[in-house]
Amino acid sequence: MGSGIVECASRAGYEVVLRSRRLETAEATLAGLEKSLAKHVERGKLSEEDRDAALGRVTVTAELGELSSCDLVIESVVEDLTTKKHLFRELDRVCESSALLATNTSTLPVVELAMETNRPDQVCGIHFFNPAPAMSLVEIVRPLTAAESTIAEARAFAEACGKTPVEVKDQAGFIVNHLLFPYLNNAVRLLEAGVASRDDIDAAMRGGCNFPMGPLALLDLVGLDTSVAILDALYDEFRDPHYAAVPLLRRMTTAGLLGRKAGKGFYDYRK
Ligand SMILES: NC(=O)c1ccc[n+]([C@@H]2O[C@H](COP(=O)([O-])OP(=O)(O)OC[C@H]3O[C@@H](n4cnc5c(N)ncnc54)[C@H](O)[C@@H]3O)[C@@H](O)[C@H]2O)c1
Repeated sequence: MGSGIVECASRAGYEVVLRSRRLETAEATLAGLEKSLAKHVERGKLSEEDRDAALGRVTVTAELGELSSCDLVIESVVEDLTTKKHLFRELDRVCESSALLATNTSTLPVVELAMETNRPDQVCGIHFFNPAPAMSLVEIVRPLTAAESTIAEARAFAEACGKTPVEVKDQAGFIVNHLLFPYLNNAVRLLEAGVASRDDIDAAMRGGCNFPMGPLALLDLVGLDTSVAILDALYDEFRDPHYAAVPLLRRMTTAGLLGRKAGKGFYDYRK
């Protein structure tokens, strides 16, 4: 997700600092960005000049301190509250007191991240969808602590990236994942119960609902570990059995069958 967000911001004209824990990861992400932009050029959707300009606006680093002069920082690390809380404490320490700190979390309570900082009024969720350059929606998540100006700035940023922002309260799953994940989870339940095959479940939802992608293919795209983390956060908040991750989903995650990013999930991408 991080690389997609960098692509959106750099193409919109923002100077972007791409930070990963290891420089090699940051450089690999930049290589991915180059590849993605090259595809847009090939398809005639981006000029070579604009591609070069977008790449010229991105710098990569492994140093958190290099984020110090950013006006807006969007974290998109693993969907784990402890990891994100730790990162927000660090970001609060290194960033200018005027900077806005945002999270791309899919479900976690944004207020918990805000309260790790000395600027809870300047923290909100800016939730992109996968793949970020292609998906038009951004959810702007308003924790109880956020100032009106924070939400306005986040919305303006999303609009500058060419996205359609919607505003939502800081409640697990926000709008999209609140509605989407019971459906995805139930698709795995059908597969687990042997009601239908993988291909037939996906074909049914593509053909019957005109969805561009079946639920099992979509889980592979999201990542099964991220999906379990999303369901766990939803279940923690609502205690609704629809959000209890189906055992097969959890077992596949434990087995490392995480979907596209691992080369294998419900489908095999290694061929
Ligand atoms: N996958 C999706 O479809 C999707 C969609 C929207 C939002 N999100 C959200 O985006 C975030 C990232 O999801 P993803 O799917 O890209 O996950 P991912 O597992 O593909 O990538 C997470 C990255 O975070 C890195 N990381 C872990 N701990 C870190 C730390 N302390 N500091 C810096 N980097 C660290 C990992 O090395 C990894 O590269 C999550 O909050 C997720 O909920 C995901």
